[in-house]
Amino acid sequence: MCGIVAYIGPKDATPFLLEGLARLEYRGYDSAGVAVTGRSGGIKLRKVKGRVADLAAAVPARFKGTTGIGHTRWATHGVPSDANAHPHLDNAERIAVVHNGIIENADELRAKLAADGAVFRSETDTEVLAHLIAANVAEGVELEDAVRAALGRVVGTYGIAVLDAERPDRIVVARNGSPIVLGIGEKEMFAASDVSALVRYTRQVVHLEDGELATVRADGFRTFTEDARTTHRQPSTVDWEVDSYDTGGFEHFLLKEIHEQPGSVERTLSGRLDERFATAHLGGLNLDARELREIRRVKILGCGSAYYAGEMGAQLIEELARIPAHSEPASEFRYRNPVIEADTLYVAVSQSGETYDTLAAVQEVKRKGGRVLGVVNTVGSAIARECDGGIYLHAGPEVSVASTKAFTSTVVAFALLALHFGRIHDLSPADGRRIVSALKALPDQIREVLEQSEAIAGLAAEYADSAGMMFIGRVRGYPVAREGAQKLKEISYVHAEAYPASELKHGPLALISPELPTVALVPDDELLDKNLTTLGEIKARSGRVIAVGHRRPEEKLADHCILVPKSEPELDPLLLNIPLQLLAYHAAVALGRDVDKPRNLAKSVTVE
Ligand code: F6R
Repeated sequence: MCGIVAYIGPKDATPFLLEGLARLEYRGYDSAGVAVTGRSGGIKLRKVKGRVADLAAAVPARFKGTTGIGHTRWATHGVPSDANAHPHLDNAERIAVVHNGIIENADELRAKLAADGAVFRSETDTEVLAHLIAANVAEGVELEDAVRAALGRVVGTYGIAVLDAERPDRIVVARNGSPIVLGIGEKEMFAASDVSALVRYTRQVVHLEDGELATVRADGFRTFTEDARTTHRQPSTVDWEVDSYDTGGFEHFLLKEIHEQPGSVERTLSGRLDERFATAHLGGLNLDARELREIRRVKILGCGSAYYAGEMGAQLIEELARIPAHSEPASEFRYRNPVIEADTLYVAVSQSGETYDTLAAVQEVKRKGGRVLGVVNTVGSAIARECDGGIYLHAGPEVSVASTKAFTSTVVAFALLALHFGRIHDLSPADGRRIVSALKALPDQIREVLEQSEAIAGLAAEYADSAGMMFIGRVRGYPVAREGAQKLKEISYVHAEAYPASELKHGPLALISPELPTVALVPDDELLDKNLTTLGEIKARSGRVIAVGHRRPEEKLADHCILVPKSEPELDPLLLNIPLQLLAYHAAVALGRDVDKPRNLAKSVTVE
């Protein structure tokens, strides 16, 4: 949620820290700060409420040091303010700490430290760490040992970077539930919470494991466990393109990522379609056909848009494989003492692979002996590592807070899983071929939808100042409606409700009026007549309707219509969703919202 960067080497750390923070800002963005030190000793600190640009403006030219740490924050403990921004210092201003995660026993530690004379200057849980580490760095104690001792008293999750003014030759980092990655340069080293901050400087990285620490010096690093045993970690090469972290001529990352979908879907499909047997090959499942045949139920777990993508996935699995499948918010599942069945396959969905609620749900399933697959975008992320196997999306990095291309690729991955499952069960070769060709056609069909961006911008401008919007869909259309409403509310802040079209007359029809327009998913499938009847009911109550489907309904049933190319019925939801992304994007632009960084949100939610 928050972002961490660190640098040690011969150069001035500040430009890297500020640029790295700007790249991480999508993770959290209510305040930011940097601390540097060097041979001249002492810690220089600047932190401000606001964006990284505000921080950059506040950093004076003489703010230099060869060792530094930085942070961009998404508030959990204490309001966004200069004082609560990281880094946090101890009272002697010798130790500086940046932290992602939550220290659960912060109140108790704070009381003890205060009783011993520590004076607290912020409301954060993180400041406790600075005082705790400072209490442990005595003469002759190495910084890493002081950090280990401090972390030994902490309950909670963390990714941290620690600076010591008296030991400017090193930075100590540690990970427990919140990612830390080291970047290996030429006589210089970097660390960050996310590779996006590093790829401009190095492709050689080391992902720390939970419970691991590292001492990082300009000429290398040493990793070790909480009980001081050295670990041996091989660097890996990041294959994501540097360009992925630029807007590439688009006005926003979100628009760029929406337009990247033909390519990202191609990558999700690449090498996985088998035309001969009309099935899909998924090498990472780690389950053979015999094991898959024993699966009686599929339970999909994810949060937010990942949960809605899971709802589409559940329908695909039920339809193609005829195996009961259900998607549930991982954030609910983990708290309700779930029954774990041996013949159920659990599937965790996460773009970032770091969402804490989803990770906790996976751990709960595994603790009880269940088998979990991951549908994950970020290679090597915590959730990917925790799962028994899975499908990587290969959608490329998603920078904008709202998920678009990862959402679409998740649904494509589920289509592959459903096809594979289906062909192991009773899906006929002819039906398998039907799905294979429909999947192959998707990238071009998405391009066709994207060509309507301007027309959709016109519609969005007309409707953006509505008091709210209703999104409705039946069966396959319902998860599309939910995701459409989610996208609109999160980036435009326009209130949006999603309902199954069939439920409208059981209550929400009372809301329909000219002030509450409805976006209705009306695919040309076996439920078309039912959907048209619903449109009639809305129009009879003077509601305004934007129909999204495959053919234009009669004029009296819809005020506007967005047409998308027809796929196979099972895959139609994928294409119906794309115009809703554009609608949300253009509404947010029309309202002057901060599209890539909507208020109160963060890209990866690594706290409970
Ligand atoms: C919505 C959105 C969020 C995420 C959710 C899960 O546009 O981005 O709802 O989908 O926070 O995130 P991941 O997929 O990283 O686990």
